[in-house]
Amino acid sequence: MTAAGAAGSPAGWASGLSRWTVGVRQVAVLTGAGISTDSGISDFRGPSRLWTRDPAAEKMSTYQVYISDPAVRLRSWQARLSHPVWTAEPNPAHLALARLTRSPVGTTVITQNIDGLHQRAGTPADCVVELHGTMYQAVCVGCGRRSDMAGELARVRAGEGDPPCTGCGGILKSATVMFGQQLDATVLARAIAAAEAADLFLAIGSTLIVEPAASLCAVAVRAGARLIIINRDPTPYDKLATAVIGEPIGEVVPELVDRLLAARREPDHQAASDQPSAR
Ligand SMILES: NC(=O)c1ccc[n+]([C@@H]2O[C@H](COP(=O)([O-])OP(=O)(O)OC[C@H]3O[C@@H](n4cnc5c(N)ncnc54)[C@H](O)[C@@H]3O)[C@@H](O)[C@H]2O)c1
Ligand SMILES: [Zn+2]
Repeated sequence: MTAAGAAGSPAGWASGLSRWTVGVRQVAVLTGAGISTDSGISDFRGPSRLWTRDPAAEKMSTYQVYISDPAVRLRSWQARLSHPVWTAEPNPAHLALARLTRSPVGTTVITQNIDGLHQRAGTPADCVVELHGTMYQAVCVGCGRRSDMAGELARVRAGEGDPPCTGCGGILKSATVMFGQQLDATVLARAIAAAEAADLFLAIGSTLIVEPAASLCAVAVRAGARLIIINRDPTPYDKLATAVIGEPIGEVVPELVDRLLAARREPDHQAASDQPSAR
């Protein structure tokens, strides 16, 4: 285990990477809001962040409040119209992970994000597990019918403040998992399988306090993976990690991916002889 302070120094994490990436064949990555802040999408928690500046924003993410309060739905649709996700571009960390998913290193990107930036960076859709759904689709809470968010936003722009489902007249929401809703069981099962199959698990830009997403770190470690956490703030899973890197995601992730790709190109016997016996 490398302490957060030691791995947090540039020299500390850079030298550690060559040890932690040797012999890695299967990677699972869990990403949170912190990977998208460099793309201009705010994360949620912390002194200057969205829910601290605007507590009403948290209400809009709570299912029961959304369903029972028409005023919250009106606000939500206006917030969706002007959401930064529609103009955001993938940043170097998304692009680096996309390179990894297209390489011989088997990679699954499990994301808590709803912004679609992994796919837009070039990660094949079947390598992404969207634990909390996607903003790119809307869903009816009555009949479950899905539709493109772009079409529903066009209705809002044309004057429907809270557009109902065109199939059954029910309430529409974005196809994301709100507080008070269960995760899709099939999606969660895919994420658990990826965590169990990994020999390296990367947790990037997440406070690791939203469950069950965060517990995937423990699932991976229990199944024998090394855990590397890249996040500015401490997390409850730091004590399980081989390394905790508190440096900017945009610097660490591209470097880490380069090392993984370089280690994979090395002959197996060299990787085996370099393999550290302990985490
Ligand atoms: N982009 C999105 O899709 C988006 C944005 C906000 C929230 N959400 C949703 O809200 C929930 C919030 O939980 P969460 O844990 O993902 O995010 P969070 O907002 O709780 O925490 C993000 C973490 O990333 C760190 N961070 C931010 N930028 C960083 C950088 N450049 N380098 C290093 N660290 C950085 C922060 O210090 C923080 O600890 C998620 O489940 C997600 O569904 C999604
Ligand atoms: Zn419907």
